Amino acid sequence: MSAIKKVAIFGAAGNFGTPITAALVKAGLEVTIITRVESASTFPPGIPVIRTEYTVEKLTGVLTGQDAVVCVVGPAGISTQVAMLDAAEAAGVKRFIVDDFGWGPGFRSEPEFQPSGIQRRVAWDHAKKLSEANPQFTWTGVSIGNSIDWAIKRFPLMGFDAEQLSAIIYDDGTEEFTGTTLDGIGQAVVGVLKHPNETKNRFVKARSIQTCQNQLLDAFQRATGQAWQVQRSSTKELLESGRKKHQAGIGGWVLELVAYQLYAPGEARCIVASREDSDVELLEMTEETPDDIVKKVLSSITN
Ligand SMILES: NC(=O)c1ccc[n+]([C@@H]2O[C@H](COP(=O)([O-])OP(=O)(O)OC[C@H]3O[C@@H](n4cnc5c(N)ncnc54)[C@H](OP(=O)(O)O)[C@@H]3O)[C@@H](O)[C@H]2O)c1
Repeated sequence: MSAIKKVAIFGAAGNFGTPITAALVKAGLEVTIITRVESASTFPPGIPVIRTEYTVEKLTGVLTGQDAVVCVVGPAGISTQVAMLDAAEAAGVKRFIVDDFGWGPGFRSEPEFQPSGIQRRVAWDHAKKLSEANPQFTWTGVSIGNSIDWAIKRFPLMGFDAEQLSAIIYDDGTEEFTGTTLDGIGQAVVGVLKHPNETKNRFVKARSIQTCQNQLLDAFQRATGQAWQVQRSSTKELLESGRKKHQAGIGGWVLELVAYQLYAPGEARCIVASREDSDVELLEMTEETPDDIVKKVLSSITN
C-alpha cells in the first residue's frame, strides 16, 4: 500500500480525538476534521474543518481524496459509523480506523455491556465485509485497554484521588492490567498509518504500561512525598453494587462494572496487550512506568 498522507478524523475534539489529532499533525500528516452540522465542538486553529450531515452521499463527497479516516466519535455516535464506512469505501479511502479505543473484539465483558458491544460490532463487521469485497479498502481497530492517565484523573472509582491524597485499593491491589495514556493513543494511531501493510484488516493491541493498583499507589506516594490515606474495598462489592444499579435503572453502574472488570483478582481480564502479545514495537509506542503515569496525572491536576 502506498504511503498515507491525507487523513480525515471524526470526533477530533473528544477526549481521545484531541490527542490523536495533535499526534497526526505532529507526525506531518495532512489532517482534515469532519464534524456534525449541530456540533458545538471547538477545534485547534490551522486545521481545515468540514461541517456536514452524516449521510453516505454527503460523506462520500467529503472523503474523496483522503487516504485514511480515523473514527473516534463518542458512544452516542457509534451507529453513524456504517454510513462513514460506506462513504469511505465509495470515496476510495485506503484505510479506515474503526472506533474501538477499548478492549477489542475478544474481550470477556460482563453481560450488562452486551447491547453497547453489539452496536460496536455492527461497524466492525461492516468494515470487514467491505474490505473483503474491495481489497483496496482496508480497516484497523486500535485496542488500548484502560485509558490510564485520563481515567485515573477522571474517575476516583479507579482508586486514586490525587487531590485528597487518598486511595481505594480493591482486594489485594495486585491484579495487573494494561493501559494506554493519551500520548500513547496518539502514538498508536500514527503507528497504524505509518505501517499500513502490517496493520491492515485487524485489531492492533496497544499499551503504554502493564501495572497494578499497588504499583500506582507506591508511585503516587513517592511523587507526593506523603503516605496516602488508604481505604480497602473489594471487587465483589463493585460487582454487586454495579449489578443492583443496572437492574434498578440507576446511573453509576458502568463505572462500577468497568472497575470490577479491571481489578477482579486472578482473571488477567484487562491485559489487552500483554508483554508477549502486543503491537507496541510495531506501532513505535513508548513504554511508560508507574512514575510516568503518576507524573501525568499530577501535572494535569495542577495545570
Ligand atoms: N478504553 C477506555 O478506557 C475508554 C474510555 C473512554 C472512551 N473510550 C472509547 O473511546 C472512543 C472515543 O470516546 P471519547 O470519550 O473520546 O468520545 P467523546 O469525547 O465523548 O466524543 C467525541 C466526539 O464524538 C462526536 N459525537 C458525539 N456524539 C455524536 C453523535 N451522536 N454522532 C456523531 N458524532 C458524535 C463529537 O464530535 P463532533 O462534535 O466533532 O461531531 C465528539 O466531540 C469511544 O469509542 C469510547 O467508547 C474508551
